[in-house]
Amino acid sequence: MEHLLPTYQRREMEAVQASGSYVWDAEGKKYLDFMMGIAVCGTGHRHPHVEASIAEQLGKVWHMSNLFRISGQETVAEQLISGTHFKGAFFCNSGAEANEGAYKLVRKWTGRNRVVSFSQSFHGRTFAMMGATGQEKIKQGFGPMVEGFDHVSYNSFEALEAITEQTAAVWIELIQGEGGVILADDTWLDALMERAQRVGAKIVVDEVQTGIGRTGTRYAYESTPLIPDVVTLAKGLGSGFPVGAILAAQGAEEVFTPGTHGSTFGGNPLAMAAAKATLELLFDQSALEHIEETGRYLMDRLSKLKTPSIVDVRGKGLMVGIEMTEEVAPVIDALQHEGLLVAPAGPNVIRLLPSLFVTKEEIAQAIRMMEHVLEQKAGVRG
Ligand SMILES: Cc1ncc(COP(=O)(O)O)c(C=O)c1O
Repeated sequence: MEHLLPTYQRREMEAVQASGSYVWDAEGKKYLDFMMGIAVCGTGHRHPHVEASIAEQLGKVWHMSNLFRISGQETVAEQLISGTHFKGAFFCNSGAEANEGAYKLVRKWTGRNRVVSFSQSFHGRTFAMMGATGQEKIKQGFGPMVEGFDHVSYNSFEALEAITEQTAAVWIELIQGEGGVILADDTWLDALMERAQRVGAKIVVDEVQTGIGRTGTRYAYESTPLIPDVVTLAKGLGSGFPVGAILAAQGAEEVFTPGTHGSTFGGNPLAMAAAKATLELLFDQSALEHIEETGRYLMDRLSKLKTPSIVDVRGKGLMVGIEMTEEVAPVIDALQHEGLLVAPAGPNVIRLLPSLFVTKEEIAQAIRMMEHVLEQKAGVRG
């Protein structure tokens, strides 16, 4: 790794094979993956339907400039938008890029340049999105941030006063993922929406982590009172193939006119083959019901874990956080040793983001591994 800039604190383990909910390392050790590339492989690893779709496209056209028609984009836009109030989609390659594009969109759309976002939020690593993000640790050392971001407390009614006639947009995750799996309150969202509409501010919902079925609906906003003007997507949209998207309500087509925004790779035929197959699998009533049901089962099983070090279990669908009294890094290492891959969400929260096709048996297996590790840890503390 000596030739890599050390931006990540990487684990040594490398997956050399993957299928469904499992990955294998070079020694042949099998792991149950409840992390899925941090909510990326929503359909599990190498879902055959997605693999076949990419393979088919591989034998046709890999890439064409956005100066040509790419009908795959029209298909995926239709899949993303049908049954919603959105009118148009723009394709890009990542969450930060989707958010950055949405930021340009709302600034030009409203002619305003202030954005209200929330403490503990995470929106990506570009300069504007570092500005939007409500976590100091990601900004340190980079000098002055992009101006115009007002950070206020999440779920606080008083904080809504920061939304004024100068506000271009309110930028929000409906479940703060990196911030610790924190859920927005519906009555608060109601008030937020009322306030934003009153002052003419757009609502941008960052669904990079919560979108594409993760919480049991196509988009997390669908189970809340919020009606966003813009939604940003990435992670789960391509099952592991890099795809991002902006969905925008009526009016955006007069803002994002030719020459105003672009992305060389955005929406290329391979990416669209991955996204099309992913959405065929996940934007399906029975798949969404499965996510709800297995999510309930997971929460129920977790809440019965008899460990005093667990303070709270929270989440929606298959995006679940376990808050602990202790630092979770050693617990996560021990779980990996046991054969279960999970992600942190801040220092005290373990985040579970399994395949959206996870089975109850796989959940039961994960619970057994957690029980074993937590019992061992409790035993050591004695
Ligand atoms: C809510 C949210 N927004 C934006 C991002 C940034 O996405 P990307 O890493 O694809 O740029 C993330 C990544 O974790 C995220 O969770």
